Amino acid sequence: MKRRMSTSISTKTEPKRQRLFTHCFLPMILLLSAAFFIGSAFIITDYKEKILGWGSVMVLQYSRSKMCETQCRAYGSEALPRGIISETSDLEMRPLWGAQNKKKPKLSMNLLAIAVGIKQKENVNKMVKKFPESDFVVMLFHYDGIVDQWKDLEWNDRAIHVSAVNQTKWWFAKRFLHPDIVSEYAYIFLWDEDLGVDHFNAKRYLSIIKNEGLEISQPALNPEKSELHHPITARDKNSTVHRRTYKVIGRTKCNENSTGPPCTGFVEMMAPVFSRASWRCSWHMIQSDLVLGWGLDFQLGYCAQGDRTQKIGIVDSEYLIHDALPTLGGSAENKVSSPSSESGGRSEVKKQSYIELEIFKNRWKRAINQDNCWSDPYEQSTKKQK
Ligand SMILES: *[C@@H]1O[C@H](CO)[C@@H](O)[C@H](O)[C@H]1NC(C)=O
Ligand SMILES: *[C@@H]1O[C@H](CO)[C@@H](O)[C@H](O)[C@H]1NC(C)=O
Ligand SMILES: *[C@@H]1O[C@H](CO)[C@@H](O)[C@H](O)[C@H]1NC(C)=O
Repeated sequence: MKRRMSTSISTKTEPKRQRLFTHCFLPMILLLSAAFFIGSAFIITDYKEKILGWGSVMVLQYSRSKMCETQCRAYGSEALPRGIISETSDLEMRPLWGAQNKKKPKLSMNLLAIAVGIKQKENVNKMVKKFPESDFVVMLFHYDGIVDQWKDLEWNDRAIHVSAVNQTKWWFAKRFLHPDIVSEYAYIFLWDEDLGVDHFNAKRYLSIIKNEGLEISQPALNPEKSELHHPITARDKNSTVHRRTYKVIGRTKCNENSTGPPCTGFVEMMAPVFSRASWRCSWHMIQSDLVLGWGLDFQLGYCAQGDRTQKIGIVDSEYLIHDALPTLGGSAENKVSSPSSESGGRSEVKKQSYIELEIFKNRWKRAINQDNCWSDPYEQSTKKQK
């Protein structure tokens, strides 16, 4: 139940209104009917004449103050009149003066966020150029602290640059992509810097995931040229989108009846694309201290806004080539590393990845045990699979 509430906050159908209704209007209606009941109780007493006046005034005042008490106000904003409260923001740059250039109506823009180091400048340039300015706001997370050397790129000034040395994509995402800040964007592309985009078209990709109703997705990887970690991400040349693999993975035989990872219902963490609603949920799952992000991928199904076998998928017709360079921006197995050190740092980071994975799994278990109001929508299926 709790899960449903937190994940359905921004589904497509008038999310806020729904929330307002259950949180504010419902209590208000109850209160009003209580007031009405009290009011009518007064009327039928013998003291009708005297008390009617008093009673209705009292009831009115009482219900007004109660009504105000139960009004929904964002935490911390209670001291302000409602109309001035600005709960969300975005990453669009605004002119210092003059008219706003109204290019697009809100809610149709998307966000591309990449963790980058200067060594990957050329590839990042290619990547960004694949995302049309009319549809995407670009954000770069510089993990090597080098920002100036990007200035010659033609799109540099319209990108937002955030710099923090030796931090990972998930560290940045947790801190700079808060759902209230990015709630204007229809889709969030949270990508590594080493992806080959020759066969990728962002507009076509967007239209496919919209048509297919994918809340969480990634482009397929060309298996001939990419380092594959999960069979599900391999491109199927014959299809536009696939949602499961039929391979044997370890002791798991994936088939059409599989209900969860590693057969279906997840994407890898190198190039995930989130809908607004799924990002709001996923952001909450990212742990501030577990910066390598391991373990998140298999749990993404909880943020899928419905059946993970349907709402999560791999787009085959727009695909990537994954060079698997060891970079800090990356998060997949075997490739996580610190930007400079070639051997030492890499194995250290890998070791740390496994440690973080264990911590994450344990936290998940503990959270389930402690939360009596939460029930696991996938409990059956995980049991069956094991
Ligand atoms: C793709 O389609 C071709 C012909 O239609 C077929 O020969 C081939 O086996 C299919 N490949 C896959 C992966 O399904
Ligand atoms: C999937 O489930 C159906 C119905 O229970 C069953 O008939 C079929 O044999 C199953 N397929 C596999 C591959 O297990
Ligand atoms: C960043 O990491 C590298 C090693 O990968 C190290 O040499 C450097 O001192 C670190 N920088 C900071 C500011 O921690």
